[in-house]
Amino acid sequence: MKGLILSGGRGTRLRPITYTSAKQLVPIANKPVLFRVVETLVEAGITDLGIVVGDTAAEIKTAVGDGARWGAQVTYIPQPDPLGLAHAVKISEDFLGTDRFVMFLGDNVIERGIAQLARQFAQSDWNAQIVLTRVQHPEQFGVAVLDEEGRVVRLVEKPREPPSDLALVGIYMFDHNVFEAVHAIQPSWRNELEITDAIQYLVEHGYQVYPYVHEGWWIDTGKMEDMLDANRLVLEELEPRVAGYVDTSSQLCGKVVIEAGAEIINSTIRGPVIIGEQTRIVNSFVGPFTSIYHHCEIIDSEIEHCIVLENCHIEIDQRIENSLIGRNVEISRSPLKPRALNFMLGDYSKVGVLSNSR
Ligand code: TTP
Repeated sequence: MKGLILSGGRGTRLRPITYTSAKQLVPIANKPVLFRVVETLVEAGITDLGIVVGDTAAEIKTAVGDGARWGAQVTYIPQPDPLGLAHAVKISEDFLGTDRFVMFLGDNVIERGIAQLARQFAQSDWNAQIVLTRVQHPEQFGVAVLDEEGRVVRLVEKPREPPSDLALVGIYMFDHNVFEAVHAIQPSWRNELEITDAIQYLVEHGYQVYPYVHEGWWIDTGKMEDMLDANRLVLEELEPRVAGYVDTSSQLCGKVVIEAGAEIINSTIRGPVIIGEQTRIVNSFVGPFTSIYHHCEIIDSEIEHCIVLENCHIEIDQRIENSLIGRNVEISRSPLKPRALNFMLGDYSKVGVLSNSR
């Protein structure tokens, strides 16, 4: 089996972060989402990988390279415009050939991987297998309808009256018959070739499409809130480890990872938390579900349920919560007075925050 990872797209829901960088490279528990996707595929024994790339191709290539680090071989497939998930399949035909393949959205994170379902599909003669999960609000998703034998008979995009609570997860498996479908379908109202239309085509033309109902968590990290959720869930699985320096007046509680070269001075770190390499935490509180990436400084500050990217400097006598802070951001004190802080800051942002001391 081959793997096809979709890492193009527009990323409009994650602006301003995506003005300057690829959303698939935002770290979840200090590891880019895309690296987690590559690892998930390699763990399932799939090492021949195609990565569909768009405007952020250069950044993705620099980060992932040839895949040798994971024991994989990576082929990059440029997509001139983000014309839909089925369009990404269409332009990958030369790479995929007649192999069965897994298509994985490069911004999705899934608990417990896909080894079992990849094996199930590899051993079957099904033409497609789609991963479904039960959700509370099916009206916000693509939803599948199954027949008595458990086969997929219909897909409905964001139905007002959902026929089931089984939503499509961003993982799909196909054989080469999917190319007939992606060539036959027409662009949707948003001018994209929709993967749901391609699957519906397979169903209507007598191909065997089976579901796999995933029981663990799954997160599409398209929005900041989803990134924070994914970060929380992945941090909960951390194995505590201290490779950096923690002074005697600091306290680590719960699951905490301190990477090499990091320094914790006179601070409390309440896990689950990960502190990246060469990051300094001084006179501060870092609260649960927080990931601070490498080369940051957090001084005289309180921060909880946040993702902070590399090279940030935060020095503020306020508490920061529920925030995604881009690269090279500086947040410092200023003489005026704020009540609440809630950030979504792009790379290279600078914020002056009002100080309590006037
Ligand atoms: P989406 O999150 O559905 O789309 P997007 O990345 O354009 O984001 P937004 O809706 O916020 O504008 O895409 C899911 C994944 O598939 C993501 O990793 C980007 C990738 N993708 C492609 O590679 N090519 C495409 O044509 C599209 C639409 C998405």
